[in-house]
Amino acid sequence: MAAAGCILATVIFTFLPYCPVSALVEDLDDSFRENRKDDVWLVDFYAPWCGHCKKLEPIWNEVGLEMKVSGSPVRVGKMDATVYSNVASEYGVRGFPTIKLLKGDMAYNYRGQRTKEDIIEFANRVAGPLIRQLPSQQMFDHVRKRHSVFFVYVGVDSTLKEKFIEVASELIVYTYFFSASEDVLPEYVTLNEAPAVLVFKDSTYFVYDEYEDGDLSNWVNKERFEGYLSIDGFTLYELGDTGKLVAVAVIDDKNNSVEHARLKSIVQDVARNYRDHFHRDFQFGHMDGSDYINSLLMDELSVPSFVVLNTSNQQYFLPNKQIESIEDMIQFINSILDGTAEAQGGDGILQRIKRVAYDAKSTVVSVFKSSPLLGCFLFGLPLGVISIMCYGICTADTEDGPEEMTRKDVVDQNLSDEGSDEDQEEEKNRENATDMSDEDQQEKDLMEKKKD
Ligand SMILES: *[C@@H]1O[C@H](CO)[C@@H](O)[C@H](O)[C@H]1NC(C)=O
Ligand SMILES: *[C@@H]1O[C@H](CO)[C@@H](O)[C@H](O)[C@H]1NC(C)=O
Ligand SMILES: *[C@@H]1O[C@H](CO)[C@@H](O)[C@H](O)[C@H]1NC(C)=O
Ligand SMILES: *[C@@H]1O[C@H](CO)[C@@H](O)[C@H](O)[C@H]1NC(C)=O
Repeated sequence: MAAAGCILATVIFTFLPYCPVSALVEDLDDSFRENRKDDVWLVDFYAPWCGHCKKLEPIWNEVGLEMKVSGSPVRVGKMDATVYSNVASEYGVRGFPTIKLLKGDMAYNYRGQRTKEDIIEFANRVAGPLIRQLPSQQMFDHVRKRHSVFFVYVGVDSTLKEKFIEVASELIVYTYFFSASEDVLPEYVTLNEAPAVLVFKDSTYFVYDEYEDGDLSNWVNKERFEGYLSIDGFTLYELGDTGKLVAVAVIDDKNNSVEHARLKSIVQDVARNYRDHFHRDFQFGHMDGSDYINSLLMDELSVPSFVVLNTSNQQYFLPNKQIESIEDMIQFINSILDGTAEAQGGDGILQRIKRVAYDAKSTVVSVFKSSPLLGCFLFGLPLGVISIMCYGICTADTEDGPEEMTRKDVVDQNLSDEGSDEDQEEEKNRENATDMSDEDQQEKDLMEKKKD
């Protein structure tokens, strides 16, 4: 589609010697604050020297093109945050690149992976109404096919609905929120009472229970992932927000031997059939390949194996025997819950020192692997070089250094959790945004959805 648009554009602007893709991304400056008026903007705040920003640039141009071609009302821009730092800091920009969708008084941060598809999906979701109406069963089915996880409010106006809107204005950056009347829902849904909030996922649905599940925002945050996931480094970082332990089968997807498939299916079984017991504390999934997990644990895991990670303190749990059955796994998970399983790793001072040594070792190994000659030259030079390195490592300040390194392992970009001033700003403006979901917009949105 992008290519087609590009060709089209080139045909139209034949007097231009190249495809004018970058023209669809507006270069923003000081005047942006006054000029942005009522438009919805998707802005990349970048720094000229930052590598991740350079990597994003071609993707950003494609995003600009595709938004234009698809007739989206969202305008795409970029701003050199080092030149217009006052504007950037007004929007709470700290790291680079920072992607924000600006709508009314709200500034929504993009935290997903920086791919064209993900960014466009985010922009369309957040730019649209907070709560989308589902007027018919066909619409419901359509949404069901499109989204693996989504939340639905059922019922008339209530305090629960107010809460739902409030939660949506905060979590629209992650997931979808709808409202529907009961007769629009599929027949297999039975509600004991209305109003109610439901999540549809894992080929079924779950109902929010204020007494069991506590705060709605907390519940949505924990339920916004499917019960079983294919996990990579980035997903692991995102899962950190849920506060759940991550129970992951480390396998080799390409290996045909039965152990791999069996371990995966045991985890899937436990995730599905023991949801009631474990879903509040555990997120289940598998990871393809052990490189990432090895660098996280600073250990060599045999593949396949099963490990439970605590992303909040970097501790992990390994079963003391091979997991051969569902019973083995349940026993192991219960031993974590009751505290009898022994935690390893962590973020203590010893672990941090180990991290420095581990990273230094990996660097040496990777230099040797990629270029043995260079390796010999660098590390073969006697004591001098090595002692300088040791000196460097030992005097590196152990407080900040290792911390940053572990962070980098989980996310190799600066996806700083935008701090408190911005949250306050959002808090302050939340009410305004709820007014945005006016009839017109909803209808327009539905029309658009229907078309595709
Ligand atoms: C990453 O974000 C932190 C704040 O969360 C900031 O202090 C730091 O300068 C940022 N680093 C880069 C390279 O932008
Ligand atoms: C597949 O996994 C088994 C262990 O389950 C291992 O012994 C074998 O070497 C692996 N095969 C390949 C091709 O990696
Ligand atoms: C995971 O880490 C958090 C933060 O340190 C801690 O409160 C929690 O008890 C840990 N969970 C387990 C099962 O060890
Ligand atoms: C947002 O709400 C505040 C009061 O809550 C009001 O003063 C302000 O004008 C509103 N802004 C917009 C854009 O509606």
